[in-house]
Amino acid sequence: MTIKVFKTKEELYSEVYEYYLKRLNKQPNITLGLATGSTPIPLYEKLINGYNEKKVSFKEVTTFNLDEYVGIDSGHEQSYIRFMKEKLFGHVDININNCFIPSGENEKLEESRIRYQELLNNHTIDLQLLGIGSNGHIGFNEPGTPFDSKVHIIELDEKTRIDNSRLFNSLDEVPTHAITMGIKDIMNAKEIIVIATGENKADAVFGMIEGPIDTDLPASILQKHPNVVIYLDEDAASKLSKERK
Ligand code: PGA
Repeated sequence: MTIKVFKTKEELYSEVYEYYLKRLNKQPNITLGLATGSTPIPLYEKLINGYNEKKVSFKEVTTFNLDEYVGIDSGHEQSYIRFMKEKLFGHVDININNCFIPSGENEKLEESRIRYQELLNNHTIDLQLLGIGSNGHIGFNEPGTPFDSKVHIIELDEKTRIDNSRLFNSLDEVPTHAITMGIKDIMNAKEIIVIATGENKADAVFGMIEGPIDTDLPASILQKHPNVVIYLDEDAASKLSKERK
């Protein structure tokens, strides 16, 4: 694991952005694993600016998103397909047919799970972007998820629902389940970038980097991945031991 700690979020996201520019220009047909939530938004904004300044193209890029809520349709304000269109896909020259997100529609869940697994089995993610939940989840792989899990439907942790309720009118509206890439699918990526900012991530970040590798803190499995770079601000890094900062 490589750990990078930044004084400001601006410095953090600028460095991640520069790295994406380099990777996309070197490998225009790259397969990216993408994430939703608050964490990736500044990166997506920078990538859109980079595209507008003709520094990068997404024409040949393929993307796989980590997860989607179950039971909200694709037009719902908080659906991740809508999030991706609004925050990235709708602003760059990506071919939307090459952008994959599992469907969380109730009636077709099993079909969706099988199809997404087939797609992931047939593609290799070159560069996976991850945020981390305050409970240590990656994707929606909540504490207790087996490390060999593949695409599956999961009941969301109460902590996750409370964290995400800021984006809904009330906690009751937050879906109870999600469909997510499994931990094994995530670990199959050739390269992984994790971004975490803010004090509420400090415990999870400590567990990911210094804790025992245990399903209680799903991100701890990343200690076993051969190519992970973790970008932290000082708040998220605040619980790490001195030599790791
Ligand atoms: P956040 O979510 O980026 O909204 O903090 C991260 C996550 O739950 O993985």
